[in-house]
Amino acid sequence: MNSKKRIIITISILILLLVLGFAIWWYLYEEKIEISLKKDLQVPYKSTVTNLSFIDYIKNGTIITKEKNIDTTKLGKKKITISFKNKYGRKEKKSFEITVIDITPPEIEYQEILTTVEGNEIDLLKDVTAIDDVDQEIEILVEGTYDFQKADTYPLSYVAKDQSGNEMRKEFTLIVEKKPAVQSKSNNQKPDSTFTTSKGFSGYTKNGVTYIDGILIANKTYSLPSNYGNGLTQDTINAFDEMKKGARNAGLNIEIISGFRSYDKQNTIYNNYVAKDGKVAADRYSARPGHSEHQTGMAVDINSLYTSFENTNEGKWLSANSYQYGFILRYPKDGEDITGYMYEPWHFRYVGKDLATKLYNNGAWITLEEYFGITSQYE
Ligand code: DAL
Ligand code: ZN
Repeated sequence: MNSKKRIIITISILILLLVLGFAIWWYLYEEKIEISLKKDLQVPYKSTVTNLSFIDYIKNGTIITKEKNIDTTKLGKKKITISFKNKYGRKEKKSFEITVIDITPPEIEYQEILTTVEGNEIDLLKDVTAIDDVDQEIEILVEGTYDFQKADTYPLSYVAKDQSGNEMRKEFTLIVEKKPAVQSKSNNQKPDSTFTTSKGFSGYTKNGVTYIDGILIANKTYSLPSNYGNGLTQDTINAFDEMKKGARNAGLNIEIISGFRSYDKQNTIYNNYVAKDGKVAADRYSARPGHSEHQTGMAVDINSLYTSFENTNEGKWLSANSYQYGFILRYPKDGEDITGYMYEPWHFRYVGKDLATKLYNNGAWITLEEYFGITSQYE
């Protein structure tokens, strides 16, 4: 072989080796990166997730993209792109879409028990609010059947759905009380006993019920028999209806949330409070059975059972105007030593316009105890 031939062969071998080396390198460089995404590409609104948390596994490669949190404060689709490389340095990208979804149903704020009397329609959605993490306006529906004309206890539900279809359901009870026959206010039969109060008013007790100057008294000192009462008195209902109209003319809405309460009902309520708060605390805001004004059929709790009711337009209006309809704010602020009960800006007692006007006292409510000169203390 001459030297020329040897050179050609050597070069050919070198080229062949080079091509082979390149082919091997190419083969390795092109090694496929296997990436698999998780099945669930949906993430809850405002949750904390990172761009890398959607990778289920990766084979023959490593992730180059830095891990970072994804903005989940907007609902809808989001594109995510992640870069990888295999161990020979070849880079690859994968893009996919995730969806930010709302999975939280609205919260409903409501009262568990609503009470009214036959024929007195109340707005079941008043004071009910639904708050959602995403949607501003949430429609609330009442589910179940009821009839304001028919005394009964109606189990109902509030249902609130957000725009993503998340539904919240809360059960409540509507109590429609019987409209009672007019109770006899005065008693023309002979009283069982008579007395004169420290302020010179004459009072009497008949069948266990005490009247002073013709006004039925129920407080910690003066009780009612357990069988007394069967609903709100007609005078109270009429006066309340008038007051409701007056409120409506002022652009306000007032509803009875607790009207007549029987001895047994008060017994349950009081005992529940005692179990919850203890007797000493319960006695400051809940009457013992036989001592509640609600058993007289002449007391109503209006709209709310929170002291903050005094700051609402309805609370202010009632405090300033209820006397014109014959109602008094029965347990005024700072009156606990006199009435025996803490301030209740929602509790109104029907006493008739004459007495209510006197007790109104330009807004500085006088209590029945002060006016008549009587006590309110348990024995
Ligand atoms: N909350 C009033 C005092 C009652 O229980 O009658
Ligand atoms: Zn009350």
